[in-house]
Amino acid sequence: MSLTSGLRPLPRSDAEAPPLHVAIIMDGNGRWAKARGLPRTLGHRAGVTALKRTVEAAQQLGVGRLTVFGFSTENWSRPAQEVSELMSLPKLYFESDLARLRREGVRVRVIGRRAGLSKDVLSMIDEAETTTAANTRFHLQVAFNYGGRADIADAARRLAEAVREGRLDPAAIDEAAFESHLSTAEHAAPDLIIRTSGERRLSNFLLWETAYAELVFQDVLWPDYGPAQLKAALDEFRGRDRRYGGADVDDVLATG
Ligand code: FPP
Repeated sequence: MSLTSGLRPLPRSDAEAPPLHVAIIMDGNGRWAKARGLPRTLGHRAGVTALKRTVEAAQQLGVGRLTVFGFSTENWSRPAQEVSELMSLPKLYFESDLARLRREGVRVRVIGRRAGLSKDVLSMIDEAETTTAANTRFHLQVAFNYGGRADIADAARRLAEAVREGRLDPAAIDEAAFESHLSTAEHAAPDLIIRTSGERRLSNFLLWETAYAELVFQDVLWPDYGPAQLKAALDEFRGRDRRYGGADVDDVLATG
């Protein structure tokens, strides 16, 4: 057995490091609005402005991929008026930022179930995806009508269908095969998950993909988020020791 087998991957130079994938649970819009005596609607709209600031900051801070949680499969249980407001956010965001994203080489992808979304929302998603499809400089993935469990169930169904149709041997279903059927298959798993507002939960976000992600919880409410808060989260992440279930090479060498 080689000395390093089962140990953390050897450190790579910055030039070789893959682009960082950061995922954010943007929480606290409602509390931000309440603290100001405003309707929740205005908290969500301020959340869109924070998203614009944060995507721009991520592009400048060495992040290559950013996934944000815009609407969960559980958010349908909110009052109809709030659901309707949340459904209008992709339009609000893309109408004000899509031209910039396209110009600056950002590729947009929306993950989550399409069923249940209105024609207007679907056509906005389609426009954002198709007009940025050739971009490669930065990847923005928006989870909308997304749930981690739903995504895992959908992957299982697709695998079962492939087996039934004779396209897949059940013996070939391993972690890589499963992963390739998730909606997130296009990108490597996130390195860092950020949740704002002080809550310390994943709330059904990227359940499979977060197996080895670092988690950073910040007390700021999402509408107040921006470059300084993202930089603080990245600084905390860069100070973490990632071992992926292995041991630290230096510790093993020192203690045998
Ligand atoms: C959680 O805050 C936030 C949401 C449910 C929506 C987040 C969405 C955005 C910030 C913008 C989305 C943009 C696109 C492009 C989809 P909360 O309402 O649960 O806050 P609370 O916990 O304080 O009540």
